[in-house]
Amino acid sequence: MPIRIPGRRRVAVLISGAGSNMATLIATGQAPDAAFEVVLVISNTPDAGGLAIADAAGVPALTIDHRPYGRDRAAHEQAIDAMLNEHGVEVVALAGYMRLLTPWLVGRWAGRMLNIHPSLLPLYPGLDTHARALAAGDAEAGCTVHIVTEGVDEGPPLGQARVPVREDDTPETLADRVRIAEHALYPAVLSNFCRTLH
Ligand code: GRF
Repeated sequence: MPIRIPGRRRVAVLISGAGSNMATLIATGQAPDAAFEVVLVISNTPDAGGLAIADAAGVPALTIDHRPYGRDRAAHEQAIDAMLNEHGVEVVALAGYMRLLTPWLVGRWAGRMLNIHPSLLPLYPGLDTHARALAAGDAEAGCTVHIVTEGVDEGPPLGQARVPVREDDTPETLADRVRIAEHALYPAVLSNFCRTLH
């Protein structure tokens, strides 16, 4: 059994890409009075930049590549679930994890799996959130941390952060501004969540 630090929830972060949110969660979890620690990072692709960041921070980081599983999503998720259990994980944080989850894995982690989404949900679930906010002429954009349920980006929100939209914004400049907000929001919400989890 893995060693547990009393009072700290054991968190796994699932990624597919750069892992900038993952990095803020790792750093927050390394503070002396943290409510959680990141004990495992899993990517579904070996190309995820976040793997090297996690490794450099001393966090076990591994790839469970979805490609060899083909259409067998259940088998891929069973491999992920087995690894989460092996590491004594209590809470799962999705952070730019680009695979849709089946009801099976969502059900296994019901109430203990969080996601960050780059919009003010319920606005703009799914992809291309910043382009859609700009096309709609929104004055504000932002991000949401929510509990993961079966519907994509539909679970109960735990926190949101807002940023202004500027007249000359492109999807990229808006994404950069929102991402800064994400990096403050996710660690704060996850800390609160872990402090109140029974
Ligand atoms: C973030 O914008 C997050 O909201 C979305 O995917 C992006 C991941 O970025 N779900 P990073 O890999 O954390 O840098």
